[in-house]
Amino acid sequence: MQLPSDLRAAIETVTGRSSLPALRDAAAAVSARYRGKARVDAAIKSEVEARAYLGARFPATYAAAHEVLAQTARVRGDFTPRNLLDIGAGPGTVALAALAVWPEIGTISLLEPNPYLRRAGQVIFEALGLAGRVQWIEKPVQSAELPEADIVTAGYMMNEIIRDDEIEALTAKIWQATRGLLVMIEPGTPEGNAIILRIRAVLLQQGAQMVAPCPHRAECPLIGTPAWCHFSTRVERSKLHRSLKDGAVLGYEDEKFSYVALGRVAAGLPAHRVIGYPAGAKIVLLQLCNEDGTASTAQIAKSHPQYKTCRKLDWGDALDEAL
Ligand SMILES: C[S@@+](CC[C@H](N)C(=O)[O-])C[C@H]1O[C@@H](n2cnc3c(N)ncnc32)[C@H](O)[C@@H]1O
Repeated sequence: MQLPSDLRAAIETVTGRSSLPALRDAAAAVSARYRGKARVDAAIKSEVEARAYLGARFPATYAAAHEVLAQTARVRGDFTPRNLLDIGAGPGTVALAALAVWPEIGTISLLEPNPYLRRAGQVIFEALGLAGRVQWIEKPVQSAELPEADIVTAGYMMNEIIRDDEIEALTAKIWQATRGLLVMIEPGTPEGNAIILRIRAVLLQQGAQMVAPCPHRAECPLIGTPAWCHFSTRVERSKLHRSLKDGAVLGYEDEKFSYVALGRVAAGLPAHRVIGYPAGAKIVLLQLCNEDGTASTAQIAKSHPQYKTCRKLDWGDALDEAL
């Protein structure tokens, strides 16, 4: 995907306030702190680092959020949120993706303790003419009183919670604020997926209804296998994005993510979810998670009644009818 042009322009309004060499240094410093150091020193420490985050990371996390929310909206076509709470909002990435999927969202609460990311986000929402709909909450999720919202989101946030043993309690707190849907996204690594599995377990135990990506509420069938549940989305790299990423020669980036979406009411789940890149042409090979809680590889020959539908499926897509 390519970011909407008005959003790209808004980002350039912010990133253009620092020189390219300063943005490059800041992007390198942030990515060195992130590399292999989950939970340590991940915070953005200056305005220029926040701008570098916008250039180097925002496009990919926006694309992942957009894909997650579009898949969620596909399962819950009846859902029309009027307000949103985004936790660990950064510059408002997930909220902006949510507005693209559900333009009917009227009021937006963005919980973000980091002042530099908040400031960058404020400039973006102003540039997009959306500032009047946004309320910023400046506290960390642990101490904040969370306003209730129809949809609550958190993108790439739990892996920054310093105390790992807080994840279950924070998930329960966030669910309390959720009137309709809760959507949590983490990096598409084994560690990110492990956090998603913990969030999923807490919420199912609290009576939440599965929406996506799982077509069932049983235990994840990939547990105990070398695979883990994650997805991928391709985002076009802008010139700035390329120049901030060391050695980035490709015009696009594939962002891997894990996620879970659960709701207050039961959803009509699909029969299957595609959990890897489809392969083959005459015979389509699909890695699937199934409604009976199993994972399998399906071989769909040209003679299969659903062959045409299956040929068009991508990693992450759902298939409503059982194969
Ligand atoms: C990797 S950034 C993701 C930002 C945004 N959600 C996105 O997807 O681009 C993680 C965010 O979580 C925020 N964060 C870290 N600890 C937090 C806490 N205890 N409460 C709320 N937010 C927190 C950080 O300030 C940062 O904005």
